[in-house]
Amino acid sequence: MSDKAILEYQGKKYEFPVTEGTEGELGINIKTLRSEAGMITLDRGYKNTGSCESAITFLDGEKGILRYRGYAIEDLAEKADFLEVAYLLIFGELPNKEQLDKFSADIRDESEVDEEMKKILDGFPKSAHPMGVLSSLTSALIAFNPSSVNVDSEEEMYKAIVKILGKFPVLVAWTLRKKNSLPLNYGDDSLGYVENLHKMMFEKPGKKYNVDQSVIDALDKLLILHADHEQNCSASTVRMVGSSHAGLFASISAGISALWGPLHGGANQAVIEMLEGIKQDGGDTHKFMQKAKDKEDPFRLMGFGHRVYKNFDPRAKIIKKSADEVLGGLGIEDPVLDIAKGLEKEALEDDYFVQRKLYPNVDFYSGIIYRALGIPVEMFTVMFALGRLPGWIAQWREMRLKKEPIGRPRQIYVGANLRDFKVVGER
Ligand code: ACO
Repeated sequence: MSDKAILEYQGKKYEFPVTEGTEGELGINIKTLRSEAGMITLDRGYKNTGSCESAITFLDGEKGILRYRGYAIEDLAEKADFLEVAYLLIFGELPNKEQLDKFSADIRDESEVDEEMKKILDGFPKSAHPMGVLSSLTSALIAFNPSSVNVDSEEEMYKAIVKILGKFPVLVAWTLRKKNSLPLNYGDDSLGYVENLHKMMFEKPGKKYNVDQSVIDALDKLLILHADHEQNCSASTVRMVGSSHAGLFASISAGISALWGPLHGGANQAVIEMLEGIKQDGGDTHKFMQKAKDKEDPFRLMGFGHRVYKNFDPRAKIIKKSADEVLGGLGIEDPVLDIAKGLEKEALEDDYFVQRKLYPNVDFYSGIIYRALGIPVEMFTVMFALGRLPGWIAQWREMRLKKEPIGRPRQIYVGANLRDFKVVGER
């Protein structure tokens, strides 16, 4: 195989090196395209553009494969816990017992948030969307912590990472507690990361906190499944913001905003709202399938389709199974689960969906589980953000350690040519 790609334009040939990844993916390195041929590539939505070489997550959208650092998502979801996966994503290897204990202890040591932060939270109306609150609080953390990180210092880098991992669950819990008018609390050092988060979210004053282990296991699994997904919208945002050497917290805050949108992480909230809407409308899934296919109708089947997966999203398979287990285990019958399964069945047999390779994505069933776990709909994307935190950190760390240049795409200008300026009275 040639290791060069040749571009011919107006009778002239230009050669570009081809980079091959460890899984055989090929990328044409067009670094010299503009200087040699005077052109750029144009790729709206970066559908076919690689922004970096990365060793964190591999996914094959055609085959439905997802691996973190070489480990199959199915194995990690089944056998690892969230903090192990966080360590794996960020530092590249699964931790041994000693490393994991130290990592957990260091995170626990950082699980306090400056009391002044409560005043900031107090300024938000209760009606504020939790994602807006979370993004603002994450930005506000910068006021109480170093705003930049010396990436040449392993120690400083590590400190920034355990700080954000320690404080983020507190912010998540406070966001919910503010909404529910509950006092802002702190966690319990003796609990694991996910159980501690759950306790901070749901503990009621004066009541003994109790939770079924199956709830914690289900939450842990959901967080693992959301932990990274290579160069998606929010990870690319984190890298882009970080590439200007903005600090870790500022970059993560930008990632939260990117995740919020209904075409990205906000889809989990949009799915439940859609399923509820179908239920209230009488549960006719066929009617909504027709709407989704009608190009004149803005309705889309939320939780279906993916930029990269043109086959089953492997996470959706695991989550669907988990939804059955969790609801069964907790004795919950949710009619919305049946509507979801009905929609999936119809879509998988429908030409429109088959031809466009539209399958359920990670968020089609995740909301049903979150709801069964007692998590309010508006908090779904916040849970996603917590799950994605290790991925964002890993992407940011890799980008900074590789000393990537500042992200700055080009454009093809299609606006007006030079015009004469007229003062206001003459226009
Ligand atoms: N319902 C109906 N039609 C769809 C859907 C859908 N959910 N998704 C894609 N299509 C159709 C498009 O209309 C388009 O049809 P056309 O070729 O006739 O014009 C075709 O399938 C390709 O869709 P695009 O929007 O071009 O695909 P793109 O890769 O840009 O978008 C996206 C992917 C945003 C995920 C899209 O499938 C979508 O909007 N899905 C619903 C929202 C959602 O679930 N988002 C969560 C994604 S997972 C995550 O971010 C965690």
